Amino acid sequence: MKLKENFLWGGSIAAHQCEGAWNEDGKGIGIMDLVTKGSYETPRRIDKTFQQETTYPSHEAIDFYHKYKEDIVLFADMGFKALRISIDWSRIYPNGDDSEPNKLGILFYQELVDELIKYGIEPIVTLYHFEMPIHLVKKYGSWANRQTIDFYLTFCRTMFEALKGKVKYWVTFNEMNHIDPQTETSDIFTYIIAGLKFSELEDRRQTLATIGYNMTVASCKAVTLGHEIDSNNQVGCVFGIEPVYPVDCNPVNVMNAFKQMDRDFYQIDAMCNGKFPEYKVAEYKDQGIKIEIMPEDKGSFADGRLDFIGMNYYASSVAEYEGAEEGRSALFGGLQNPFLETSKWGWTIDPTGLRYLLNYTYRKYGLPIIITENGLGAVDEFSEDGKIHDDYRIDYLQKHIEQLKIAIEVDQVDCFGYLTWGPIDLVSATTGEMKKRYGFIYVDKQDDGTGTLERTPKDSYHWFKKVIQSNAENL
Ligand code: BG6
Repeated sequence: MKLKENFLWGGSIAAHQCEGAWNEDGKGIGIMDLVTKGSYETPRRIDKTFQQETTYPSHEAIDFYHKYKEDIVLFADMGFKALRISIDWSRIYPNGDDSEPNKLGILFYQELVDELIKYGIEPIVTLYHFEMPIHLVKKYGSWANRQTIDFYLTFCRTMFEALKGKVKYWVTFNEMNHIDPQTETSDIFTYIIAGLKFSELEDRRQTLATIGYNMTVASCKAVTLGHEIDSNNQVGCVFGIEPVYPVDCNPVNVMNAFKQMDRDFYQIDAMCNGKFPEYKVAEYKDQGIKIEIMPEDKGSFADGRLDFIGMNYYASSVAEYEGAEEGRSALFGGLQNPFLETSKWGWTIDPTGLRYLLNYTYRKYGLPIIITENGLGAVDEFSEDGKIHDDYRIDYLQKHIEQLKIAIEVDQVDCFGYLTWGPIDLVSATTGEMKKRYGFIYVDKQDDGTGTLERTPKDSYHWFKKVIQSNAENL
């Protein structure tokens, strides 16, 4: 299989990381509006209320809300075929439980989508990318409460209808699989997914399992709703998946690695196989966890199967094993791989892992896949010639695209697009920094909040333009 002629080359962004305008045009407070900047060493602080003299990175971000037209010109110049955006729920329903949506919020996304279409860029719309109205957390307890499913579906309906006929590719959730980090971890992962701090959860395993289940049901129902509203809609879900390798061929370590990797798949199983997996129900039972499975859920799983799978791929890890050295933890638990280098933020660089993951996932489900995120977070500096020579980023992307091509052309994986994360510099989700840059386009916005917000193409901009032009023949 060759790369399709209409292969979707492009990028992915998320509202809270780029839009800014956090309190404009009727927007409510989203969970990420209360999170400060952190760094690799210092976790982001999560506030209950706004603190004085504190900079919250989402409040201005890169001001995409006002600058999206000029940014889209640059994406179009690079030849983008697709841009994945997210809809900030708190722009549409400021509190989440409002009886009417905010018209100005809807208008913003209609105009944004129109602008993409004007340049022949396919909009791919994520309905939930860490942007829940804080009110739903405070009043209802977030996704631990089943009522949130209904609020979410009302929001989905509003957007499916508002963008009907313009948007074909929809994503129900971004990375819901990270809701349950399994190991003791920083607060940020459970917070970005559900607005709840891991350290403050009373009955952790129970609450996280309930959230994971409710989100899975919500995704299936959203798929059905999307199909009902427009039968042309293709509705998928995005997962952040890491290959987890065994440290050696000791069968015990191989089994552990399988288990650690598999923990991220139960929601995909539910969404692709038409039922909530029995192995997960049994596991919960063993752990004394009770999931409230309603009689109608059976039909929701059966009807709401995904049309495609979106995969965010950044890194791989090595499974924990007995006698492992301490202090070499990888991103989502697991250990660092001594065969691989890491980014400055400790994320393993593993292009082959992308091929592995594409094969693994495609053989398991046989559904079309799109790489919805991939990229390198790095520090960029201007050289004396006034340019940013980000050869390290080109090298990273080139090696990943090579493996993507092998997966498609040799291994016959049906992959219909490749979107890089943060094609324009934006706020880092885990650290809140601007310094951790992913873009082809540099944005003059610094960690202390200063900067002109001016946009400047980096070397990778010109490189990726050629990749798209040649449909990756010219890497
Ligand atoms: C993905 C998220 O997991 O990782 C993005 O979907 C995020 O929102 C990206 O930005 C990169 O992570 P970070 O922390 O480097 O911004």
